[in-house]
Amino acid sequence: MKHRTFYSLAAIGALTLATAHAQTTTTSSAPSLAHLEKRGAATQLMVDGKPFLVLGGETDNTASSSLEYMDTVWPQLVKMNFNTVLVGVGWDWVEPVEGRYDFTLVDGLLDGARKNNLHLIFLWFGSWKNGLSSFAPEWVKADPQRIPRARLKSGKAVEVLSPFSEASLQADTRAYTAFMHHLREADSQQHTVIMIQLENEVGLLGDSRDRSAAAGAAFARPVPPELLDYLQKNKETLWPDLRKLWEDAGAKTAGTWTEVFGDSTAADEIFMAWNYARYLDHMAKAGKSEYPVPVFSNTWLVQPEDKEPGDYPSGCPEPLVIDIWKAGAPAIDINAPDVHLPNFSDWACRFHRPNNPLFVPESSGDAGGAANAFYGIGQHAAIGYSPFGVNHAARLSEGRSGGNVQTPIALENLPLARAYALLAQMTPLILDAQAKGTIGAAWLNTEQPKQNIKLGNYVVHVDLRRNRRNPAQVPALGYAIVVSAGPDEYYVAGLDVQVTFSPDTPGPEIAGLARAETGKFVNGQWIPGRKMNGDDVLLDYDQAGAAANNQSGSGLMFGADGPTVQRVKLYRYQ
Ligand code: DGJ
Repeated sequence: MKHRTFYSLAAIGALTLATAHAQTTTTSSAPSLAHLEKRGAATQLMVDGKPFLVLGGETDNTASSSLEYMDTVWPQLVKMNFNTVLVGVGWDWVEPVEGRYDFTLVDGLLDGARKNNLHLIFLWFGSWKNGLSSFAPEWVKADPQRIPRARLKSGKAVEVLSPFSEASLQADTRAYTAFMHHLREADSQQHTVIMIQLENEVGLLGDSRDRSAAAGAAFARPVPPELLDYLQKNKETLWPDLRKLWEDAGAKTAGTWTEVFGDSTAADEIFMAWNYARYLDHMAKAGKSEYPVPVFSNTWLVQPEDKEPGDYPSGCPEPLVIDIWKAGAPAIDINAPDVHLPNFSDWACRFHRPNNPLFVPESSGDAGGAANAFYGIGQHAAIGYSPFGVNHAARLSEGRSGGNVQTPIALENLPLARAYALLAQMTPLILDAQAKGTIGAAWLNTEQPKQNIKLGNYVVHVDLRRNRRNPAQVPALGYAIVVSAGPDEYYVAGLDVQVTFSPDTPGPEIAGLARAETGKFVNGQWIPGRKMNGDDVLLDYDQAGAAANNQSGSGLMFGADGPTVQRVKLYRYQ
């Protein structure tokens, strides 16, 4: 057995604590541990040597502090077809007294998950949780002399650990490393834990940058050369607004934060992002030296009403500063968004980047959440999806305002439960198609009632399902995943959409349905069900209109009772 590793923090340059690298004994990489792997067009999460799709859900922050309570939650999660649960582990819960660790709770969570055949993603609520430091143990909170607080413009200290404190970094790193060491001992064989979220929505609230003395001194020093090198080397792919800030200030290759990024709160945000990134990078590296499963951060997204950093946590990996995080925290494998906003597809697009696979640790779990899961996984090769607050089934039925539902809820019939059931069936096909780049998805509502997906030899037109007699009548939302399975073949899974095809390669201009069928996947094999024809595929009788648009007038239809999956074979005519 390997002994615990401890750290000596070397003071290097501008950001003493952050540039210090752990002096660790390295654990040789164990291929069977969960890890990320580039497989063709996608980066996928490998679990027990095979690609894995996270059909996840996150509990309330403190649900996991009571094993008794979790005993009531696990069976519900199983009924809702989750394969992974994201649960918090508070620093305070495992190190209530400095240096004395108690992982009984962690063992109980591992046990509960295993008994229910679920994987776990632990959320380490250490120095920061939603920008604040409420999960730090009392011995940390009550000793601001040793573990200092961030300060705001007013000069007031807040209950937030300063990311400029080496003592804080050391204390959190020690606890987190002990936790990861424990996982190595408790989980190396079974691999229940497949990822770790490090901290939770870091960043400073109430000001654009920390005004403590240490932070002020760091702000006055030059921008670290490694960050400037990164900007120069990755200039072409930088987030456009970041590149503009840098170029507007003269694209300098040396200077202070305001010299390099301009004299605005954006420079403060970049400065904070770098320093949080270095802090988390140090912790992530130390944790990986014990148990090297993938680690991600999560982002509190800028809300429409926010005006400047500090209204939202300044330094959090927002799109503007995601490159700063990539430069400063290479040990964080994924910067993940918490999408509690309606425009899911925009956020998925912003966070799915060549060096950042998409994973969504928090979002909605209602019907819109089902659409999000389909869209993220199908259009952005997401490694998984997870709504927040899944220990309250009512929220999954009514969205975030839920919670007052009186009638008993049939958990397996909730929109997300049904969507996850189908995604689970289709997982081998989906993962294979993500790697091949032969998958797409649509997320439709009344504002965006149609989407075209160029996939394989056809353009796939996905529209909200129209009432045949009254085409203006459409459902509020619809979604679909489309997989190209051959030159003229597709699998389409969806709810409340209708789907037509038009050729996208030279040759006859019109695509007709040769045959379509419902079915299901059993152990990855397609088992055909009904043959779809007649009213099942008749979009309307306007043959002249359809012909004028190079359409056949027939298409796949997906009702509200679902989602369901169909296989279609096309042919072409002139
Ligand atoms: C986002 C946070 O990350 C979660 O821990 C939780 O506090 C939710 N907000 C509450 O909606």
